[in-house]
Amino acid sequence: MKELLRELRERSLAAISGADSAEVLEGLRVQFLGKKGELTAVLKQMGKLSPEERPAMGQLANEVRAALERTIDEKRAALADAALRLRLESEAVDVTIPGEAHRMGHRHPMYVVLDEIKDIFIGMGFEVVEDREVELAEYNFDKLNEQPNHPAREWTDTFYFTEDSSILLRTQTSPMQIHVMERQKPPIRMVAPGRVYRKDEVDATHSPMFHQVEGMVIDKNVTMADLKGTLDQVAKRLYGADTVTRFRPHHFPFTEPSCEMDIQCYKCKGKGCPTCKGEGWIELLGAGMIHPKVLRMSGIDPDVYSGWAFGFGLERMAMARFKISDLRLIFENDVRFLEQF
Ligand code: PHE
Repeated sequence: MKELLRELRERSLAAISGADSAEVLEGLRVQFLGKKGELTAVLKQMGKLSPEERPAMGQLANEVRAALERTIDEKRAALADAALRLRLESEAVDVTIPGEAHRMGHRHPMYVVLDEIKDIFIGMGFEVVEDREVELAEYNFDKLNEQPNHPAREWTDTFYFTEDSSILLRTQTSPMQIHVMERQKPPIRMVAPGRVYRKDEVDATHSPMFHQVEGMVIDKNVTMADLKGTLDQVAKRLYGADTVTRFRPHHFPFTEPSCEMDIQCYKCKGKGCPTCKGEGWIELLGAGMIHPKVLRMSGIDPDVYSGWAFGFGLERMAMARFKISDLRLIFENDVRFLEQF
C-alpha cells in the first residue's frame, strides 16, 4: 500500500505539473482527488490493513492528499498568471511604434466662399433658405414671368422628368423667390444657395450642374439704390475694399428694370488682360427690381411693396475669389488642388 501511494503521488504530481490549461487541471483533480478518484480508491483499502499499520498509512495518505492539493492550487495560480500575461501582451499598445498618419480632407474652396457669403448676408439681416432641386416648370418658368416660347424651356437646354415638360431639374435658383413669397409675408430678406442644372457640355467655364445663390429683399420703399448699395458692399467684402463695381442694363423676365453687375478686373485693374478677356471687367451677377407681375402672381401687392433680387453662379465667385482658371478643377476634387486654399 505504501508502494501504491508512492506511485500515485509521483504519477499525479507529474500529470499536474504537465497540465496546460485550467480544464485539464480540473480533470486531473477529479481523477485523483474526486469521490471516485484514485486516492479515494486507495484509502478504501485501508480496512484490509492491521490496526498497527493504519495510523502510519493514514498519515501518509493525508500527506499525499495535501501535496496534491497544494500542487493543484499552485498550478491553477500559475496557469491564471500565464493567461493574464498572454492577454496583456496581445492587448498591449506599444506607444513607441511610429503613429499612422491619417490624411485629412480639406475644405472645398467653393464652400469656403459660400460660408463667407452666408456670413456677409446674415450680418445684413438675411435668412438662409434651401429647398428642392426638382421643380415644377410652373415655378421655374411661369411664375417668373417667362414666356411659353422662352428658349430656356427647350428640351435641348433643360432636364425634364415628364413628357409634358411639367417637372424638371431647376435651371436657376430663382424659383426660390416664388416659394419664399408664397410662404412668408414681407419684410423678406433671404439668400438661397443650391444646385442648378442645364444641358451644357463640360468645358473650362461650363458644367451641366453648378451652384447659384439667389437673393431677395421685399419691403415697403425698397429701391434700386438699396440693390446697388448692398451688392457693392458684398463685392467689397468678398474681393477687397478697393473693389470697383459697375451696373449695366440687362433683361430678365422676372425683374424690371434688370441689370448685371461687373467687378473691375482684379488682375489688370481695368486695363484689359487674359483673365478678363481684354474687357477690364468681370461679369459677376444678374439682378433687378422684382417685376410687379411676379409679386402679384405670388400674392404680394406691388402697390404696397417693392423688392429686388439677384442671382449669381457660386463657382464663378469662387474662381474669381481664388483666381482659379478652369471650372473643371472645382469638381475634380483633387486634393493637391483643394489643399491650396
Ligand atoms: N436667375 C438668373 C440667371 O440664372 C439670375 C437672376 C436672379 C437675375 C435674380 C435677376 C434676379 O441668370
